[in-house]
Amino acid sequence: MAKITTSRLLKMKQQGEKIATITAYDASFAKLFDQAGIHAILIGDSLGMVLQGHDDTLPVTIDDMAYHTACVKKGVEETLIISDMPFMAYASTEQAYANATKLMQAGASMVKMEGGSWLLPTIKGLVERGVPVCAHLGLTPQSVHLFGGFKVQGREQSQAQKMIEDAKALEQAGAQLLVLECIPSELGKAISEAISIPTIGIGAGKDTDGQILVMHDALGISCSYMPKFSRNFLVDTGDIKKAVELYISEVQNGNFPGDEHCFN
Ligand code: KIV
Repeated sequence: MAKITTSRLLKMKQQGEKIATITAYDASFAKLFDQAGIHAILIGDSLGMVLQGHDDTLPVTIDDMAYHTACVKKGVEETLIISDMPFMAYASTEQAYANATKLMQAGASMVKMEGGSWLLPTIKGLVERGVPVCAHLGLTPQSVHLFGGFKVQGREQSQAQKMIEDAKALEQAGAQLLVLECIPSELGKAISEAISIPTIGIGAGKDTDGQILVMHDALGISCSYMPKFSRNFLVDTGDIKKAVELYISEVQNGNFPGDEHCFN
């Protein structure tokens, strides 16, 4: 298989082929997921919770992210590598330039940032300087304290409308991928139809262009609890590579997520 690029993901959306992505934080898992045929790996700042044991992602630093990105890079041959910009690493455009440099030089092919309209000049500037950007809307975990907990977002009409407008503006600014986290399925569908770039959902319904799961959730080894939007694929297979192959095929044939993993 050829290296997976953002153009390939765009083509998948255009052809109606679902995109299956997962998080990874080290070379061994990354290699296994790459060999299983996953389309993109995210080095998520979720590592603050699943690796470091924090209650949220806020303590994660850019050095943590660069370290784990370099580890993942060593295991990957074909998969697209996306790396998260952690809390406050892109509070200003200048900070974003400096920190995106660290992640790209560590091996990322794209950086992810959480936020809507306030991020537009930063995204435009990064893209103009050659850095591909994945945006992230909905339950953006770095804002957990503002939200008052890990809560479904976009249930109110005005909030949903704002999210659709933000998604369009993020695409306009140059974002090439958009993660949608914990929003009603209907809103996940509306956003996916309103923009041309692929949407990757986690708790955003069946109609996003792809899905992402935190690897610890997909393998049933999370230290806290199993979120409603996740499924333990290891329990059905008893083998990590087969579990990820099952996840990919369930995403691609439309069996995952099921109704029980979605929000109204
Ligand atoms: O940090 C992360 O793993 C993420 C995914 C849940 C999308 O942002």
